[in-house]
Amino acid sequence: MITICRPLRYYLPRAQRGDLQRKLSTSPGLARHPSPSAHRWSHPPSSTIISDNDVASLASKSLHALSLADLVKHGRPPLPAPALFSSANFTLSLLPIRLAHRIQALRNLPFIVVSNPNISKIYNNYLHSLSTLLPYNHKTISNLQDEIKFTEVLADLVETHAHTIPTLARGFLECRKYINPTEVTRFLDGHLRARIGTRLIAEQHIALHMSSQPHSPPNPVEEQIPDQSASYIGVIDTALEPASIINSCGNFVSEICELKYGVRPTWIIDGEPDTTFAYVPVHLEYIITELLKNAFRATVESGRGHEPIIITIAAEPESQRGMPTSSTIESASPSGRDPTNPPIRPLQTSTPGVTIRIRDRGGGISPDVLPNIWSYSFTTFSDEDDLPPGSGNMDALNALSGTAGGGSSIAGLGYGLPLGRAYAEYFGGGIAVQSLYGWGSDVYLRLKGLGRLDI
Ligand SMILES: Nc1ncnc2c1ncn2[C@@H]1O[C@H](COP(=O)(O)OP(=O)(O)OP(=O)(O)O)[C@@H](O)[C@H]1O
Ligand SMILES: [Mg+2]
Repeated sequence: MITICRPLRYYLPRAQRGDLQRKLSTSPGLARHPSPSAHRWSHPPSSTIISDNDVASLASKSLHALSLADLVKHGRPPLPAPALFSSANFTLSLLPIRLAHRIQALRNLPFIVVSNPNISKIYNNYLHSLSTLLPYNHKTISNLQDEIKFTEVLADLVETHAHTIPTLARGFLECRKYINPTEVTRFLDGHLRARIGTRLIAEQHIALHMSSQPHSPPNPVEEQIPDQSASYIGVIDTALEPASIINSCGNFVSEICELKYGVRPTWIIDGEPDTTFAYVPVHLEYIITELLKNAFRATVESGRGHEPIIITIAAEPESQRGMPTSSTIESASPSGRDPTNPPIRPLQTSTPGVTIRIRDRGGGISPDVLPNIWSYSFTTFSDEDDLPPGSGNMDALNALSGTAGGGSSIAGLGYGLPLGRAYAEYFGGGIAVQSLYGWGSDVYLRLKGLGRLDI
């Protein structure tokens, strides 16, 4: 199978990407801690020693309902040292609790399921990540040395969990005899939504760290490079252009289509293509790629590969914009704020939402398929030509790569719509599918630039 790399956008300014990659590859002291098995009979095998009390006490704490305002409250980078410490301590106050909640959720799966090698790998990853954060528990990060080490731990955490989605998907596929699809979807929905938040929190601090200089003297060469990322606050682009994401994802998906079907469908963007709004680019990229894959596949398979996919971008009317939520107001309160780094007004006052409609002439979705489209693992795709008998959608799994879990197959895993919707809903948006069976589909992606986030 030919694998194409997704057009992965980075959170970091171009000049800083190499820096983080270097750091990731040379991070000292981030190796696993092999140790005698500490698992009890009731837990899956584990090589990480963490007391049940630690997990239970963290998991008993309630999860903080994260808001976008939380992510930007430390100010616009480059951050001075105190703001960077405050971001690190905020991150530290959230992550161990979140990881402990996921460990508990995995332990609550039927034992035979969590003992599956793939699922127990994920379980162990969570234990490992929690063990790397525990030394910071009850500690306040107040010097640059600790902040740098902590950021390295976060980088390790992000890396450790990079392949969670294909691994879990493979595990649940292997366990399908022991757990029904409704339970799988319930678990995965909770787990993958929680993972979106956990990654966001960790990556936000890493990005703020990388775009701030207190830990390294300014580099005169880099300073001469025009800053292409002035609109970024960590992982959030406050002036994201959906049209440019649509075009780069469209190029990627049409390449996959050409390889698979020998046809390259086209797309037209209409509506308000110049719209910009505040959003996390990699989230939008994941969602758009998945929706375009579905639209392109339907268009080609229905024999209308020459019909363009019409993508309409609509900006939210002015009156709906920038209504501050109670959480925004709370987070922007002056208490504890560094007066040299005031709240970020533009994000609070002007963050329009955007609706994107993707319209294809691919024949729509039949009434018997429609009720299943939001279930993880449901797919109508089968690639029998390319697969040995009985391979099922394992092939799609093998092709999966990338941070958000999207792959280079046109379809086949049955994760595109449910996971895409989880990303959209995370920031208070959503996805609605309108099928005109026998004709085509309209998929509405609504994204809010500002609002409360799911956990
Ligand atoms: N635009 C569309 N037109 C027709 N059918 C669609 C469309 N979008 C989704 N579907 C149907 O919904 C099913 C589920 O879609 P989903 O994106 O979740 O999984 P998939 O495309 O099969 O696999 P993948 O995980 O690679 O996305 C598809 O298999 C397809 O039958
Ligand atoms: Mg799909």
